[in-house]
Amino acid sequence: MEKQRSFSFNLKPTRLLVFSFTLSSSLLLLFFSIWVFKCIPLIPQETQLHFNKSSQTLGLKPINIQAFSISAETHFRIPDISSGNSVVSVVEKVQIKQNKSGVSDRDNKSEETQNGALDGITYSNHDQSSKKIQVSGGGRIEKKKTSECDVSKGRWVFDESYPLYTNSSCPFIDEGFSCEANGRPDKDYIRWRWQPHDCNIPRFNAVKMLELIRGKRLVFVGDSINRNQWESMLCLLRGAITDPARVYETHGRRITKGKGNYSFKFVDYKCTVEYYVTHFLVHESKARVGQKRVQTLRIDSIDRGSSRWKGADVLVFNTAHWWSHYKTKAGVNYYQEGNQVYPHLDVSVAFRRALMTWASWVDRHINPHKTQVFFRSSAPSHFRGGQWNSGGHCKEATQPLNNISGTDYPEKNVIAEEVIKQMKTPVTLLNVTSLSEYRIDGHPSVYGRKPRKGTSSSIQDCSHWCLPGVPDTWNELLYYYLQSKEKHSST
Ligand SMILES: *[C@@H]1O[C@H](CO)[C@@H](O)[C@H](O)[C@H]1NC(C)=O
Ligand SMILES: *[C@@H]1O[C@H](CO)[C@@H](O)[C@H](O)[C@H]1NC(C)=O
Ligand SMILES: *[C@@H]1O[C@H](CO)[C@@H](O)[C@H](O)[C@H]1NC(C)=O
Ligand SMILES: *[C@@H]1O[C@H](CO)[C@@H](O)[C@H](O)[C@H]1NC(C)=O
Ligand SMILES: *[C@@H]1O[C@H](CO)[C@@H](O)[C@H](O)[C@H]1NC(C)=O
Ligand SMILES: *[C@@H]1O[C@H](CO)[C@@H](O)[C@H](O)[C@H]1NC(C)=O
Ligand SMILES: *[C@@H]1O[C@H](CO)[C@@H](O)[C@H](O)[C@H]1NC(C)=O
Repeated sequence: MEKQRSFSFNLKPTRLLVFSFTLSSSLLLLFFSIWVFKCIPLIPQETQLHFNKSSQTLGLKPINIQAFSISAETHFRIPDISSGNSVVSVVEKVQIKQNKSGVSDRDNKSEETQNGALDGITYSNHDQSSKKIQVSGGGRIEKKKTSECDVSKGRWVFDESYPLYTNSSCPFIDEGFSCEANGRPDKDYIRWRWQPHDCNIPRFNAVKMLELIRGKRLVFVGDSINRNQWESMLCLLRGAITDPARVYETHGRRITKGKGNYSFKFVDYKCTVEYYVTHFLVHESKARVGQKRVQTLRIDSIDRGSSRWKGADVLVFNTAHWWSHYKTKAGVNYYQEGNQVYPHLDVSVAFRRALMTWASWVDRHINPHKTQVFFRSSAPSHFRGGQWNSGGHCKEATQPLNNISGTDYPEKNVIAEEVIKQMKTPVTLLNVTSLSEYRIDGHPSVYGRKPRKGTSSSIQDCSHWCLPGVPDTWNELLYYYLQSKEKHSST
């Protein structure tokens, strides 16, 4: 090993004696560091000898730390050995707790650097140089990315190099999200980039993303907020396509708000980017209550469209907004299990049962070796001075909030995290809630879908998001997870 060479100086016997005590006490430490660092031979020697410092700088994981009892290291987080997803995901932590002694083959390559420049304008993707610590052109030490980086914690940075597309370059933005085309005058809201505190996320690279999904199906499943994210993804990927005829809708329909399937094919990459509408992930049904047939929600039965989600290579689920008092008939004669329609059921209870139905569907039908599963946490609404249907507004906001309370992390997300934790399929949580919470400026407000005749024009859309806009960041997170996974499985 290279590290041993650094210790084979010409030591005189006396000096050796003097140093023997020190040496022997260092040996255990050195041995451990050699063992940890053997995977990263390109790192300069001196860095390796500063164990405490370098291990922090490199974001190495405390592999088998228990066995070595190096207490200084116990502050490290539990390593993510199991799946290659950098998470955030509680699932992985739990798996590791259950198998502390397992040294997986990923231990060799648990370290990565990332070349994203800190000011964010000159990101270079780090595919070619993932094992070096580099000083960038600007002389900055490149910040590393660790697999444990919590990308949900960070801040928005104004960045003139955004947006990544415009309403004119992307034909897939539907009317409701195309704020600029609908006359929104201010433009700052399209120029914010999310900067996690502990690492960088790479700028979205459409060609690389298309390569990641070459020959595959990328499938979004959920409510209109997921359609929002799906349209964003289409627009982001469209940036890599020069001939518009090389992308087409396989069903040839206009994107609408209605039920249905949408699938766009990127011919040169033989991949599809699909979206399936389902508001609750479970089956919206009808049942007889007394004399009447009423709408119910079968919380014990997966959505009928699920057969089309199967076989996807990347699945991005969400559900949240429709679990409201208003849309679930306040839980009165609405939730159904088997033949039983509950006279009343609490929305949290129903939501949890529905997610468990979804979770067991995923565990039964999804092959984790083929398919990566994501669940996007809820996206916040920003109605001020009223509810969505009682004059709530957000039109005046042209800048993100400076602070968010941070105390009201939605219960639905907590439930989702708990359900995901118990699944056998690894599911990565796209934890967008807090980062989106800042973005009161990101909604269509009055620059969304034009009001239908007879409806009040005072209704503002403070739930969905303008495109380009905040969902582009969610997709940058998705891209971040997909490419770090890819790197782990290919190195
Ligand atoms: C690493 O060493 C520095 C001083 O060299 C010290 O301040 C810091 O607390 C140490 N970190 C750990 C994790 O031991
Ligand atoms: C998601 O982000 C919020 C806010 O940063 C945090 O409180 C929560 O624990 C995160 N969830 C997970 C699973 O990391
Ligand atoms: C624990 O890890 C070892 C080594 O990677 C593996 O062979 C074994 O299957 C794991 N056990 C469990 C319960 O995951
Ligand atoms: C680590 O990588 C080396 C080659 O780089 C390989 O020989 C060795 O088996 C790997 N160790 C594990 C635990 O996978
Ligand atoms: C894009 O928005 C501009 C207004 O900034 C508008 O003039 C133009 O027609 C829009 N383009 C499309 C394709 O909607
Ligand atoms: C969805 O697509 C499938 C074929 O891929 C078709 O059979 C089905 O009717 C479509 N459903 C809707 C609602 O468009
Ligand atoms: C932000 O902080 C200011 C004062 O520090 C406070 O008045 C304001 O209510 C806070 N806003 C939010 C959304 O928490």
